[in-house]
Amino acid sequence: MAPLRLGFLASHKGSNMQAIIDACREGRLSARPAVVISNNSESGALARARQEGIPACHLSGHTHPGPGALDQAICAALTRHQVEVVCLAGYMKRLGPRTLAAYRGRVLNIHPALLPKFGGEGFYGQAVHQAVLEAGEKESGPTVHLVDEEYDHGPVLAQARVPVLPNDTPDTLAARVLEQEHRLYAETLQRIAKGEIALEGLRH
Ligand code: GRF
Repeated sequence: MAPLRLGFLASHKGSNMQAIIDACREGRLSARPAVVISNNSESGALARARQEGIPACHLSGHTHPGPGALDQAICAALTRHQVEVVCLAGYMKRLGPRTLAAYRGRVLNIHPALLPKFGGEGFYGQAVHQAVLEAGEKESGPTVHLVDEEYDHGPVLAQARVPVLPNDTPDTLAARVLEQEHRLYAETLQRIAKGEIALEGLRH
């Protein structure tokens, strides 16, 4: 079967995106990065995409004033590059209704905590790990889930667990979780590529 065509949306560093690109290159993932979209023209994600020779698009409220126009531009870029599965990787914006409708059941996100705990509006970046530490959790870890209209809300596809250690700071915990994010996201995509996880609307 032809490799799965992936579209990425990322706002910052793009280390999860890079881990997936590496897995494709090393043959651990039967997929192909088709396009990278960022709302942030200075993002590491766009720089990495250009370095990798992957089509890179800066699409934001600056390039497309008005949410409808931006939604349409994002959806058009994904379809133009024949994206089959959309990977949110540190994307700080909500997807618009047109893109969600076109890709319903085929948009994935990774969150750095064990959803449904520590998710939703405001739970991003170090705030997530700070909340985990304040709650006295013994474990944390990333969640890969399907995206719907609400933040961090759609069905969970996979999780990984790491211990929370007594002297952890948000930074040390984030680093331990991020290492697992890089492994889990690529492995979950490979399970999708192999048909072990069936996504609604995806050819098989
Ligand atoms: C990750 O911690 C991810 O869980 C969250 O945003 C961060 C993105 O990091 N959604 P990176 O840009 O992939 O390095």
